[in-house]
Amino acid sequence: MSEQALASDQTYFAFAESASVLSPAQARQPLKALPDVLCGRYKIERLLGVGGMGAVYRGCDLLREQLGDPAPFVALKALSDEFAEYADGNALLHGEFAMTVRLHHRHIVRCHSFELDRGSERAFIVMEQLRGCTLDHLLLRYPQGLPWAEAREISLALLEALAYAHTQGVLHGDIKPGNLMLDDGNIRLFDFGLGRIVGDDEASVPILARSRFCAWTPRYAAPELIDGGALSMATDIYAVACVIYELCHGQHPYRRLSAKQAQGMGLALAAPAGMPAPVWKVLKRGLAFDVAKRSDSLEPLLAAFRANPASPRFGRWFGRRA
Ligand SMILES: Nc1ncnc2c1ncn2[C@@H]1O[C@H](COP(=O)(O)OP(=O)(O)O)[C@@H](O)[C@H]1O
Ligand SMILES: [Mg+2]
Repeated sequence: MSEQALASDQTYFAFAESASVLSPAQARQPLKALPDVLCGRYKIERLLGVGGMGAVYRGCDLLREQLGDPAPFVALKALSDEFAEYADGNALLHGEFAMTVRLHHRHIVRCHSFELDRGSERAFIVMEQLRGCTLDHLLLRYPQGLPWAEAREISLALLEALAYAHTQGVLHGDIKPGNLMLDDGNIRLFDFGLGRIVGDDEASVPILARSRFCAWTPRYAAPELIDGGALSMATDIYAVACVIYELCHGQHPYRRLSAKQAQGMGLALAAPAGMPAPVWKVLKRGLAFDVAKRSDSLEPLLAAFRANPASPRFGRWFGRRA
């Protein structure tokens, strides 16, 4: 994966054209810049990263600092100027908060609060600051893929995080290396902005209806999603299978093409070197273009990864390398 390839893994995003409420012209005008201190409490220190829709800053919580907290640091996620222009932008950001705050898992970022800075009228999420590097940057160091023991450890953490989110009724919707961080040896999944709640709580959590926007990252989107289908566990499974394949093989399973392009070209899959055959058998199903051939839960993948342990000599290899 090259630096250029990283840049092109941005999420494709479009608000629904038909909904007049979404016109930027109707947004709060004029858009005010983010102030140095948000809500009189969160001092912006520096930019940590940008994605398709937002910018994430390292912030200092001045209240915690005043009370003597030796590490009052947080991450602050605000909409990029372009997205802040849209009337639905804040609802989208709040949806991300509403979904993430429900999740308490060692491999999922922890969200603290959702705030609105009255002066600038800019909304933002306060969350824990992750340190380390995103998996797309890690992959640059391993063009042949990671050794099985390490790839397995990361894959298991990712599968556990996503399976947990699914049990809580949360679909992620944008699993990709750029939305995962290796933080002090610990994998963390973040950016639930394109997620969806399913099941009993579907109506009770205020998130922007998927009909108001469409969004996906081409290389990790299942074909049915690109065709306008709904998010599902199966779309998350396709994306997670792509990421796991890349970790083990160093290359995207379909030569960095979208599922639709790869399907059109009839590309065949090669087994990642070093991956035990029983794991490959299950992973391959996750990469199926036909949704009916994909499993409808992460359990088979989890079971395959758990049943094929690493050699004990590896231990927690990542612990001090991130
Ligand atoms: N909690 C965090 N701590 C540190 N860096 C973060 C955190 N959340 C996001 N980032 C960085 O900011 C980038 C963009 O964040 P993300 O939530 O993915 O935004 P978007 O929704 O625009 O894709 C990430 O790729 C990562 O580098
Ligand atoms: Mg992102």
